[in-house]
Amino acid sequence: MSGKPQIKIAPSILASDFARLGEEVRAISKAGADYIHIDVMDGHFVPNITIGPDVVKALRPHSDKPFDVHLMIAPVDPYIDAFVQAGADIISFHPEAGPHPHRTVQAIKAAGAKAGLVLNPGTPVEVLWPLLGDLDLILVMSVNPGFGGQSFIESQLRKIEIIRKRIDAEKPGIDLEVDGGINFETAPRAIAAGANVLVAGTATFKGGETAYAKNIATLRGAA
Ligand code: DX5
Ligand code: ZN
Repeated sequence: MSGKPQIKIAPSILASDFARLGEEVRAISKAGADYIHIDVMDGHFVPNITIGPDVVKALRPHSDKPFDVHLMIAPVDPYIDAFVQAGADIISFHPEAGPHPHRTVQAIKAAGAKAGLVLNPGTPVEVLWPLLGDLDLILVMSVNPGFGGQSFIESQLRKIEIIRKRIDAEKPGIDLEVDGGINFETAPRAIAAGANVLVAGTATFKGGETAYAKNIATLRGAA
């Protein structure tokens, strides 16, 4: 069984002040963030455009926390090296982004990063099973990707439960991360379902810099 995995908080900088990104990354690192979650969107795979490898590189000196880079782009493979060289520690991608997800996992690991697979709310959990043995992280989307500030989709709790059981049986120790609509009310439910890493944009950054430490601690204590 899973016992009680340590809960990690991964603030999504999508909800930060983009004019002060470096300061924001420093502030959340100091406030207790475990990972820095960086949402990369291309205006093609998802209907929004955010940041690329140059921004990741510029942020790298501002934190010693692992950079958890969530790629919402297609294709993925041509950009892996650029993100790893920019300082990505974990690279997660969506299986719909290309025809060969296993090759993408291999490419991420060959480049020297940890590999994560992301399941959209409409993506069946079965997509994960052939890749599970090679993954370092599984990310369950509890909103449709593209924007911060959306409402948590309840049906994804069941998916988290199914994946948690399988991880404990076959690959204990890897991260099960949940992303989208995580707040003080949904966090405990995601943890109860088996998630051990919570991505939180809106819930981390609300109230401004003086609130970050309390926000992160409250999310972490939600169990
Ligand atoms: C959505 C992103 C999320 C998002 C989370 O596509 O992957 O990381 O920023 O934002 P909140 O926590 O505000 O739902
Ligand atoms: Zn994300």
